[in-house]
Amino acid sequence: MLKIALTKGRVEQKFIPLLEKCGIDCTPLINKKRKLIINLGDKYQFIFIKGPDAITYLNNGVVDLGIVGSDILMEEDSEANELLDLKTGQCQFILASTANYDLNNPKRKVIGTKYPRVARRYFSKKGEDVEIIKIQGSVELAPLIGLADAIVDITETGTTLRENHLVIHDYLDRVSTRLVANPVSLKQKKNEIFNFTDMLAQQIN
Ligand code: PRP
Repeated sequence: MLKIALTKGRVEQKFIPLLEKCGIDCTPLINKKRKLIINLGDKYQFIFIKGPDAITYLNNGVVDLGIVGSDILMEEDSEANELLDLKTGQCQFILASTANYDLNNPKRKVIGTKYPRVARRYFSKKGEDVEIIKIQGSVELAPLIGLADAIVDITETGTTLRENHLVIHDYLDRVSTRLVANPVSLKQKKNEIFNFTDMLAQQIN
């Protein structure tokens, strides 16, 4: 049986239809309610987790595979091997703030973000030293309330930025959902994992 950490929320919502396209009955996943572990027959066990925890579970060898956004892979120290880009959950890292924010102002900037490492790397590449404040969610609030000058975050539809009158000042990396494997499982369950990967790959455009 393959143990698969599936990121709750948007990733999960796009992944289940992909699994259904592979001819797998996903009713137990759709009707899971608050259950955290769901078996699909005797082949797959899905564990529902938050993105950063998928990496923790993989690094500790307690799950074989993870379905996780590349934003999380860029931020967390992951030992997992990337097997497949599922091309779902497509979004983009951006630098955003209010319209009057001046990107070229030499003053040391304060950046609010859920992704401190991604933000740090971005500003290091520009040769800029910034203060980074880690925020858990609703990052868009930070420049509005005066906690930060700007944010590094992901945007999908742009709705949150628009509705909060924030504008994009720069584009960073693109993000999508990836299938990753714990390297030990990749050796021990090679055939099962490759069959699962091939099955998904055939349904991706
Ligand atoms: C993410 C991201 C933005 C939002 C952008 O947050 O941090 O806030 O989605 O999406 P949009 O461009 O489609 O509006 P998420 O909803 O995952 O959770 P959070 O508010 O708890 O950070």
